[in-house]
Amino acid sequence: MSLPDLVVVGSGFFGLTIAERCASELDLKVLVLERRHHLGGNAYSEKEPTTGIEVHKYGAHLFHTSNERVWEYVNRFTSFTDYRHKVFGKYQGQVYSLPMNLGLINQFFGKAHTPAEARELIAEQSSEIATEDATNLEEKAISLIGRPLYEAFIKGYTGKQWQTDPTKLSADIITRLPVRYTYENGWFSDTHEGLPTDGYTAWLERMADHPNIEVRLETDFFAVADEYKGRVPIVYTGPVDEYFGHSEGRLSWRTVDLEASVEDVDDFQGTGVVNYNDADVPFTRIIEFQHFHPERARTHLPGKTVIVHEYSRFAEPDDEPYYPVNTAEDREKLLRYRDLAKAEPMVLFGGRLGTYKYLDMHMAIGSALSMFDNTLRPHFAEGAALR
Ligand code: FDA
Repeated sequence: MSLPDLVVVGSGFFGLTIAERCASELDLKVLVLERRHHLGGNAYSEKEPTTGIEVHKYGAHLFHTSNERVWEYVNRFTSFTDYRHKVFGKYQGQVYSLPMNLGLINQFFGKAHTPAEARELIAEQSSEIATEDATNLEEKAISLIGRPLYEAFIKGYTGKQWQTDPTKLSADIITRLPVRYTYENGWFSDTHEGLPTDGYTAWLERMADHPNIEVRLETDFFAVADEYKGRVPIVYTGPVDEYFGHSEGRLSWRTVDLEASVEDVDDFQGTGVVNYNDADVPFTRIIEFQHFHPERARTHLPGKTVIVHEYSRFAEPDDEPYYPVNTAEDREKLLRYRDLAKAEPMVLFGGRLGTYKYLDMHMAIGSALSMFDNTLRPHFAEGAALR
C-alpha cells in the first residue's frame, strides 16, 4: 500500500484547511482520518428530516471574522448570507436584548437614561468593589458592572455554565464585561459576519473536494497509527492528552447536553437564541434554528420548528469536550504536554483539541493557514525541518 504524503487526523476546520492547502498548493496526497461518521468536526450540520431545518449538531455555529485573509479564503468555498446574530436573555419573566446595552439598562431600571446618565449609574454601582481587589468571579463582575446587573444577567447564567457558585470561581475567568451605552445589539462586532448560504456541511465538503484528498470516516487514528507514525508527517487535531495516553493526566473540559425537539408551532421564540438567566431554570439557552436562515422560511415545513435546549456541565471522559476548563492544574499539565508534543517526531499538533484552546472557526482556519505558511510549505517545498 502506498503511503500518502501527509496524514491529517480530524476533519474539522483546522484539519480540512491543512488538507486543502497542501493538496491544492503543494500537490500533496493527503489522507484525512476522521473517527466520526461524518466530516466537518463540530461545525457539522444536517437537515432535521421531518422539517428540513438545518441543525448544527454540536451547538449553534455563527461565522464572524475581522481577519481579511480568512474571509478571502472561506469565500472560495461558500457564499454567506447577511445574517446578523442577536441574543436575547430572559430574567424573571422579562425578555431583554443582549449584550448589556442602553436598551437593557433602561428596561431593567425602568427609566429612560441618556448614554451619559447610564454610564454614571453603572460607574456608581460598580464602585462597590475595586477591580484589583476582586478575589472571585462574583466580586470581579460587580466591580465591572455593579451588583444589580450582575445578579440578573451573570450570576445565575454563569453558575449554571460552571455548575459552581460564582463566589467559588476564579476572577480570571472574566477579563471584561462590556456594557454598550447605545442601543446597538449586534452580538459580534467583526467586519464580516454571516452564515454559509447552503449550510456548513456543503462548505466543509467543498474544502475536501480535491482529487488529492481522501477522507476516511469512522477511522480512529489510534487504531491505524502504526501504519503512519514515523513514516509520514502527521497533523494531529485530536485531544493532545489522548495522543500521549493521558500520561500527564486528563485535561478538563466542559460539555453541553443538547436536547433537540420538533415543536408543533410555526415559531417557538421569534429569534435564534434566548439565554435563560434565572438560576432555577436548569438549561442555559434555547436555540431555534430556523431563525438563522430567514431566507429559507418558505422551504421549511409550516407549523413545525426545531428547538434545542442546552445544559452545561463538566465533561466525563466519554463526553464531547467543548470548552477547556483551564484550571491552574490544567495549565501545568498542558505545559508538560506541549513539551512532549514538541519532541514528537514528524507530528504537528493543531486545532482546538490539539492545543487545548477555545478557538472560534475563523481562529481555527487562521491558525491552520499559519501552520501551512510557516511550517508545512517550508518543509515540503524547501526541505525545512518539520517544527
Ligand atoms: P473540531 O473539533 O471541529 O474537529 C476535530 C475533529 O477531529 C473531530 O471531527 C474529531 O472527531 C476528530 N478526531 C479527534 N480525535 C480523533 C482521532 N483519534 N482519530 C480521528 N479523528 C479524530 N465558533 C465560531 O466561530 N462561532 C460559533 O458560533 C461557535 N459555536 C460553538 C459552539 C460550541 C458548543 C462549541 C464547542 C464550539 C463552537 N465554535 C464556534 C467553535 C468551533 O466549533 C471550532 O472553531 C471548530 O470546531 C474548530 O475546528 P477544529 O478542526 O480545531 O476542531
